[in-house]
Amino acid sequence: MILITGGCGYLGSHCAVELIKLGYEVVVLDNLVNSDIKTFEKINFLTNKNNIFEKADITNHSDVAKIFKKYSFETVFHFAGLKSIVESIENPSKYFFNNLLGTILILEEMRKTSVKKIIFSSSATVYGNKFNPPWKEDLNLLMPNNPYAQTKYMIENILESIVSETNEFHVGILRYFNPIGAHRSGLLGEDIKKSVNLIPSILNSIINAQTLNVFGNDYDTIDGTAIRDYIHVSDLIDGHLKAFNYINKYNGFNIWNLGSGEGYSVKQIVNKFEMILGQKIPVRYQKRREGDLQEYWADITKAKLQLKWKVKYNLDDMIRDNLKSVNP
Ligand code: UD1
Repeated sequence: MILITGGCGYLGSHCAVELIKLGYEVVVLDNLVNSDIKTFEKINFLTNKNNIFEKADITNHSDVAKIFKKYSFETVFHFAGLKSIVESIENPSKYFFNNLLGTILILEEMRKTSVKKIIFSSSATVYGNKFNPPWKEDLNLLMPNNPYAQTKYMIENILESIVSETNEFHVGILRYFNPIGAHRSGLLGEDIKKSVNLIPSILNSIINAQTLNVFGNDYDTIDGTAIRDYIHVSDLIDGHLKAFNYINKYNGFNIWNLGSGEGYSVKQIVNKFEMILGQKIPVRYQKRREGDLQEYWADITKAKLQLKWKVKYNLDDMIRDNLKSVNP
C-alpha cells in the first residue's frame, strides 16, 4: 500500500491516478487547505474505483500516527507542502512548521512502522543563486536564501542523514523544475485560483480578461524576461514512477532533477499562449519579484540514464493541456 501525502494537490492527484491505474492500492491524504475534495472524486472517476481518502494534516502528530497504524504502507510519496517563495519570506515560521515539522512527523511514523521507502518532492529552488545553468544534481549546495527553499534543502539533508544511519532506507528525491500542463482528460490540473505561479496567472488573466503582470523585463536574457525550465506534469509523474521502480530495487539516497532540460522566457510562454489561442494577452511589466532568479534549467542526464526516463511532451502540449483543464 502507498501513502500519497498532498494527494488532492496538483501533482499528488496526477500521481495517484497513475499509481492506481498500475494496480497499486493508495491512501490519498490531504488537509484540503490548497486543494478540493472534488479532486478526489475525479481521481475515483478517472480510475473507475472507490479509493481511500484520509483528511488529515501532516503537522498533526496523532492523526498521522493513527493513519500509519490503520494501514500497512510500503512506500510514501510525499507531496504535501506549501510552495510560495513570497509567502515564505513574509511568514517563515508557517513554512518551517508545515513543510519541516510535517515531514519530520511522517518520517517518525515511517520509522515506528518500519516503512522504508520514500519519494520526496523537492525543488530546483535548492540550487539557490550560486550556479550557472544547467544545474546538475552533484553541485555542492549551500543553504538557500528563502524559507521555502530552506525547508526543501533541510528535508533533503534529513533524508540523507537517515539513509546514512540505516542502510535499509530507500530514498528518491525529485528536484522539480517548473511543472505545468494538466491531465490529458482536462479533469485534473493546478487550482488556478490558489496559485500565483506563471501559468495560473496567465490562465486567470485570460478568463477574467485582465492584464498579466510580468515581473521583470530588465534581466540579461534574450528578451529581458526570466527563463525557466517547464515540464509537463505527466512527464514529471512518469519520472516519479521510474524513480519508484528504481528505489524498489535499490536502497540508498538518490537525487534526480526532473525538468525538460530547456529554458523558455516568460515572454516566450505568453507568446505561445497567444499563438495557440489566437488572441492577445495584455501585459504590464512590473519590477522583479523578490526571490526570483534570472534564468535556470535542468541537466537531466542523470534521470535519463539511471531511470531510463525521457520527456514526451513539448511546450505546445503543456499549454494546450493547461487550456483544456480550465475549459475541458
Ligand atoms: C518557484 C520556485 C520553485 C517552486 C515554484 C512553485 C525558485 C527558483 N523557484 O518557481 O522552486 O517550486 O516557484 O511555487 O525559487 N511570473 C510573472 N508573472 C506572474 C507569475 C510569475 O511574470 O504573474 C514570472 C516569475 O517572476 C518568474 C516566472 O514567471 O520569472 C516563473 O514564475 P513561477 O511560475 O512563479 O515559478 P518560479 O518562481 O520559477
